[in-house]
Amino acid sequence: MSEQFDAVDIIRTKRDRGTLSPAQIDWTIDAYTRGAIADEQMAALNMAILLNGMDRTEISRWTAAMIASGERMDFSALGKPTSDKHSTGGVGDKITLPLAPLVAVFGVAVPQLSGRGLGHTGGTLDKLESIPGWRAQLSNDEMMAQLAGVGAVICAAGAGLAPADRKLYALRDVTGTVEAIPLIASSIMSKKIAEGTGSLVLDVKVGSGAFMKDEAQARELAETMVALGTDAGVKTVALLTNMSTPLGLTAGNAIEVEESVEVLAGGGPEDVVELTVRLAEEMLAAAGVHDADPRQALQDGRAMDVWNRMIEAQGGDPRAELPVARESETVYAPADGVLVGLDALAVGVAAWRLGAGRARKEDSVQAGAGVRLHAKPGAMVRAGEPLMTLLTDTPEKFDRAREALETAVVIAPEGARPAQQLIIDRIA
Ligand code: URA
Repeated sequence: MSEQFDAVDIIRTKRDRGTLSPAQIDWTIDAYTRGAIADEQMAALNMAILLNGMDRTEISRWTAAMIASGERMDFSALGKPTSDKHSTGGVGDKITLPLAPLVAVFGVAVPQLSGRGLGHTGGTLDKLESIPGWRAQLSNDEMMAQLAGVGAVICAAGAGLAPADRKLYALRDVTGTVEAIPLIASSIMSKKIAEGTGSLVLDVKVGSGAFMKDEAQARELAETMVALGTDAGVKTVALLTNMSTPLGLTAGNAIEVEESVEVLAGGGPEDVVELTVRLAEEMLAAAGVHDADPRQALQDGRAMDVWNRMIEAQGGDPRAELPVARESETVYAPADGVLVGLDALAVGVAAWRLGAGRARKEDSVQAGAGVRLHAKPGAMVRAGEPLMTLLTDTPEKFDRAREALETAVVIAPEGARPAQQLIIDRIA
């Protein structure tokens, strides 16, 4: 079959800072998905996009072409509003777990398609799989039935959703081209738009533990995604939130489920509660529900009831004991003073090296592994006091985890205050 365009011409256009036409973009995504553009050609084009960018019209067309590569889901038969949340990923970010059932309490259905962790950021599915019996893979019919009955579902995205992105993301991952704003924005939004949610709240992380290390980049990513969602008819808002220190007191799998259940029981660390409640308020408002009190629904057990039903519907036992790591080691405070820094990236890398995360997609994760924090920035600490507990089934990993943490902790003289704003801005 003769092709409409030549991949090399398209690469040269982007290399020379040109603009791709809608027809060139449609062809590129389609030809790559069916194998008519080779991986090395697509890798070169991705790198040209990373270096030279894309304008809004190109990004919008690129996203539409990725959506068109697969199926689109449709929840209109549910007869209730739908809302979803996407986080760009961070350390200790377990917010999806309490958030999905919390929003469902108020009659808004939450179709939360989630991923697995790669590198130092954890994956929601890996966390939930530490619950005995819980299953991530659901058919579209099972997902619909659960949304109708329970109101919330957290599951893996089916292979039919934006298959172009699946192939492209795997290539970007091994060619140093993940961190391109046009490619991140189109990758995330193609899946969310194809998923068919009516509204979407984006949690765009900023800081050492996030993709976007500085606020200007995070803001550009957030604005790009909000524009893509809005243009596609999805009510979309974004929060910029701090990821310079881990969220909550746990980074791992089972230990993050345990902390999420504490939040659902009306307790848990204040930063996790604050972000969960704020995101719930945003999701509910975006779905047209304005008189809800999500904090109250955490206190009075309504969110926990939905959580229990959501876990059971996917084969899990919400009351079962969670796996516990076989070995632990303590990290102690090196000095007296105020803990002003506890670096998110370092804690994420330590948890990953302990076995909570994977280096390659095929790797398995340890359910019990991770890092438990005993103090957060702002706390007064004394030399010799426990700061963190490292958890693993494979004690030979402790040394590498400790190495990752060598410069993670900053203690300042009494009176110092850490910069701690959790929610930096809102973009709509
Ligand atoms: N998450 C995605 O789904 N895609 C990206 O490109 C980056 C993060």
